[in-house]
Amino acid sequence: MTCYYRGVMKGIVLAGGTGSRLFPLTKITNKHLLPIFDKPMIYYPIQTLVEAGITDLLIVTGGRNSGDFLRLLANGKEFGLKHINYTYQEGEGGIAEALALAEHFSDGDKICVILGDNIIEGSIAGAVAAFKKQERGARILLKEVDDAERFGVAEIAGSKIVGIEEKPAKPKSRYAVTGIYMYDGTVFDKTRTLKPSARGELEITDVNNAYIREGTMTFNYLDGWWTDAGTFDSLLRAANLVHQTHAERQPVLAAVASEDCE
Ligand code: DAU
Repeated sequence: MTCYYRGVMKGIVLAGGTGSRLFPLTKITNKHLLPIFDKPMIYYPIQTLVEAGITDLLIVTGGRNSGDFLRLLANGKEFGLKHINYTYQEGEGGIAEALALAEHFSDGDKICVILGDNIIEGSIAGAVAAFKKQERGARILLKEVDDAERFGVAEIAGSKIVGIEEKPAKPKSRYAVTGIYMYDGTVFDKTRTLKPSARGELEITDVNNAYIREGTMTFNYLDGWWTDAGTFDSLLRAANLVHQTHAERQPVLAAVASEDCE
């Protein structure tokens, strides 16, 4: 029997794949180790989970530079963690294939999955709290974008998502499915039924559509900016957004610090 919820929520950062769209930047290193302004890319999704109170983490990585993740992140001291779990994806069979490797770690608990190249301005704490109360199913985060054809796109009817299309030529809405997904313990039953898509990958969109068919998919709109960083344009955009947010926050932080001293 699948145990739906035992009160804990675990976090999974997916950082496999080859990053072929960023070649030659990714010829000698993993995409998620590239800099986004002042930190390696993978710092941002880890921070997103930790700030939402999710501290039991698994990093799924792969390729020739996987050992560098261990050297960079070690046991997670920089994030206030005592331990990080790691696992290895052989090849690049897709996001859902990478996720399937987390079954042992998840052990029936609810999980929050974040793609290693997804960077956000705000917090997911509200959505995480809502999913903790949700009896079963899945919860995803949507963001309105101008270039929906680059992403999984949600078709919304009333207060429900009725379907998701992966990179549609003619998107049915402007709402991209961000790379932040919350699932109950049945997600691994769903990954086991997947067949490779036209691009030869096990698609996370197929997992999400399985929850939609089951009637257990919920969603929130994500506040603040959101970007991926898997193409030259989005990598630059991510760095600029982080830099801008950093610059805006510094005077505020300085003011708070000087008030503390008075
Ligand atoms: O960023 C959000 C989008 O991410 C969603 O809207 C799409 O529905 C989803 O399919 C995905 O689209 P991409 O085509 O942009 O995903 P990409 O292949 O760039 O992979 C994103 C991350 O997933 C990558 O940084 C690491 C992880 N990944 C990917 C693959 C293919 C793995 O861990 N293993 C893999 O085999």
